[in-house]
Amino acid sequence: MTAMEETGATSRPTPGATSSGSLMPVPAFDPADSGPPCAYARLRTEQPVVKALMPNGETGWLISRHEDVRAAFADPRLTRPLLSAWPPREDADAPPPCLPTFLEMTGEHHTRVRRAVSPLFTRRRLEFMAPRIRAMAEELIDTMVRGSADRTGDLVASFTEPLPLRVLCETAGLPHEDRDLYLPHTLTLLSAAGLPMEEILAALYALQDYASGLIDRREKESGEGREDYVSLLLAESRREGGDLTRDDVVSFVVTMLMAGYKTNIQHTANALLALLTHPGQLRRLRDEPDGIDTAVEELLRHVPLMNAINVLVALEDFTLHGQRIRAGDAVLPVIASANRDPDAFPDPDRLDLTRSPNAHTAFGYGPHYCTGAHLTRLQLSVALQVLLEKLPDLELAEPADSLPWDETTPLRAPARLPVRW
Ligand code: HEM
Repeated sequence: MTAMEETGATSRPTPGATSSGSLMPVPAFDPADSGPPCAYARLRTEQPVVKALMPNGETGWLISRHEDVRAAFADPRLTRPLLSAWPPREDADAPPPCLPTFLEMTGEHHTRVRRAVSPLFTRRRLEFMAPRIRAMAEELIDTMVRGSADRTGDLVASFTEPLPLRVLCETAGLPHEDRDLYLPHTLTLLSAAGLPMEEILAALYALQDYASGLIDRREKESGEGREDYVSLLLAESRREGGDLTRDDVVSFVVTMLMAGYKTNIQHTANALLALLTHPGQLRRLRDEPDGIDTAVEELLRHVPLMNAINVLVALEDFTLHGQRIRAGDAVLPVIASANRDPDAFPDPDRLDLTRSPNAHTAFGYGPHYCTGAHLTRLQLSVALQVLLEKLPDLELAEPADSLPWDETTPLRAPARLPVRW
């Protein structure tokens, strides 16, 4: 039986209602704990589909089981809402004419753009980036070591913050020196669900203008020999009978900035914290580096980066686990919960760097599966190898439960990682 079954509705009290009759809030992270909110263990067993109050005041159906989360991401009855039109406002006119991001594209449009971009993001194609990522990682570690008189440093400031942006810039062809022009807007859009629409639109327009200006500049240059995404996608848009329009390239650049920057920074910091708090496994990885790919998959599973921040909207009424979901309802497949579901992963809260198979949902599932998955894997595996080669005795310099958290976006991560070597 598939998880998204089509059954008759049952009459039950308002799902998710607390004893006072109000809806439960989306489970929050426990302070000083790096794991997913513990409330999901109960929800997976007792209320696998439950209506909850989101931080922005909207309601949404939390989906917490692994099987259901996968099914929801791939379900054609659930669509990604337009950033410029969600949450819906009663007094709103039609949403203003913004280009849809790649994530928001649907049907034939999404299939066509995906067909054009996917070959550029395969594992094999990205191999050429491995030595470049290694050089960037080595330079950052060497700088941290040179700048420290007492063999201590902060891995967030020195390594996990700068590396992903440099990798994204080099791979995608985004000028690093322009970062103050585009980064503030990408951060605004990450927190979009809680912001006034005017702010969201201003950030979207600004990013679209930036991407369009960048493409203008590239159009005037010779693309000869360039292998970055902006140049390759632009060439495809100019090819007779090509799969992309110029607007598609603008949209794709905006999406890479939204989806591929802070995610990688915050995941890398969380992954390093997980390793530093499991020193035995860290040492084993150092001594047996052949296990790096399997370890990276486990770190992707174990880090609860996405706690109910993927919003889908139902296109029609349907019933799931006895709950009637109506057209227009928000549905939130919770990756942080799915990846700790004991029905999918034995002993799910245990970090096991040798875990295999490992069908985690860190990158979603189905037609919108993360385009940047292999780039993320490559970057994390090179970053870990360089760190363990250069600093084999790396350890946390302060107790893990005293570390501050960066909660300025929905992607929570340690704000500092003080280490000694
Ligand atoms: C730890 C790092 C990352 C995580 C956890 C992550 C996670 C995700 C998830 C869960 C989705 C699916 C959303 C949905 O189905 O609604 C997605 C889509 C996407 N991601 Fe990532 N991502 C990461 C890094 C990146 C990077 C580095 C890039 C680009 C270079 C990227 C580009 C994209 C794009 C373009 C999509 C949309 C795909 C589509 O709509 O077909 N991501 N990502």
